Amino acid sequence: VFAQEKHRPQLHFTPPSMWMNDPNGMFYADGTYHLYYQYHPESTVWGPMHWGHARSKDLMHWEHQPIALYPDSLGLIFSGSAVIDHQNTSGLGSKGIAPVVAIYTSHNMAWEKAGRIDRENQSIAYSLDGGQTFSKFAGNPVIKNPGIADFRDPNVTWFAPGKKWIMVLATQDRETFYSSPDLKNWTKESEFGAKLGAHGGVWECPDLFPMQVDGKTKWVLIVNLNPGAANGGSGAQYFVGDFDGHQFIPQDEETRWVDYGRDNYAGVTFHETGDKRIFMGWMSNWDYATVVPTATWRSANTLPRDLKLHNLNGKYVLASTPIAAVSNYITGTQTIKSNKVVKSASALQRLSGKLPVQDFSITLSNNKGEQVIIGYEAASNRYFVDRDAAGDHSFSAKFAGKAYAPRLAKTDTIDFTLITDVASAEFFADGGLSALTTIYFPSETLNNFKITTAKGLPFTLENLKPSM
Ligand code: FRU
Repeated sequence: VFAQEKHRPQLHFTPPSMWMNDPNGMFYADGTYHLYYQYHPESTVWGPMHWGHARSKDLMHWEHQPIALYPDSLGLIFSGSAVIDHQNTSGLGSKGIAPVVAIYTSHNMAWEKAGRIDRENQSIAYSLDGGQTFSKFAGNPVIKNPGIADFRDPNVTWFAPGKKWIMVLATQDRETFYSSPDLKNWTKESEFGAKLGAHGGVWECPDLFPMQVDGKTKWVLIVNLNPGAANGGSGAQYFVGDFDGHQFIPQDEETRWVDYGRDNYAGVTFHETGDKRIFMGWMSNWDYATVVPTATWRSANTLPRDLKLHNLNGKYVLASTPIAAVSNYITGTQTIKSNKVVKSASALQRLSGKLPVQDFSITLSNNKGEQVIIGYEAASNRYFVDRDAAGDHSFSAKFAGKAYAPRLAKTDTIDFTLITDVASAEFFADGGLSALTTIYFPSETLNNFKITTAKGLPFTLENLKPSM
């Protein structure tokens, strides 16, 4: 029934109705992925935040669940993470059941209105039924505000070498690390980033996790930022470095972005996925999220993406690609052999190809002349996405325009994948070293493809079926 709604993505997660922002508390257990999200069940704009909940077996098809966390006397339920406390360090487990513990920010709206700086505090809630229903911990908050207005979005992980929990918390213009033996008592360890990275706005929604590369363990620190992203508004920067349970030391002073597009914010990774790292972001931007022209709901998430670290001239950089399960939704394949317009049967497609490093563009359009153009400019060595003429952008002066992503790869061929889904395009080049995500609101679906390239044909165009 949702599939017929105008602008409703069919391959991407969207809430059943009403307002959604950040993905929260994502984890995997017993064959099921859990996704929670910032949710206002009474309106299509932001308001008193709950944690909505959905479950999936393959990260593509999601089943909506009852709301997992409701606001309480400590405040609204802002963003955070969830862990499985396998060893019951918290003592919140029962009868051999390891609790799922959600760690989130309690945001006190009354205190905010009263001008109180200490309005954001960290709380926990636990579940004994695998993340379906939660009880709030009686001793909340577990971290009290020390006098920092923006003090939120805790992301917790078990640090095995030190046998302790580590929390990374966004604290205005930096990250603060805390540790705990039991998820209830927290000690400040260190701070990171006041003088590094992009600071055009407030640091929000961090994530810290280890990855294996070249036989070593490296730590990735994702730091979402709003505003001040690579192409304006909100976006996700990251750092790669070392973490010893106390301090994060970055490999260098570069600012790098998980995705250079305008519409990938507050992204973090799933917990409990072993050696895999799966990232999902909110496919919007605070520059216009509350005014985009959808009627009964607002916002979708990005497709789930596999993260990998690549060694690029001695520096480690993130590459992201859509998870392999996308291929299970293919219904047909055609080959694009010329620079003429090709019609696709569906508004859900995956286009892929390989071509020499040279200017090229892919124009995705409808019969009304609305279009999104994605391509590469050799002179500036950048990929771009242009949604200037993509349909309605009357709702915000900040919406139209072009976003650019630098090409990092040095190889002499470009491989790319582009996935489109009714109201979004996700472009990945060079094995995901460059990513650009964009949303748009055409009056009719964009399913004409035209590829402008001197060399590089043919391309493969696959139709996909809805996953939702
Ligand atoms: C990021 C954010 C978080 C906060 C949440 C509130 O989009 O501002 O910092 O926890 O949204 O909904």
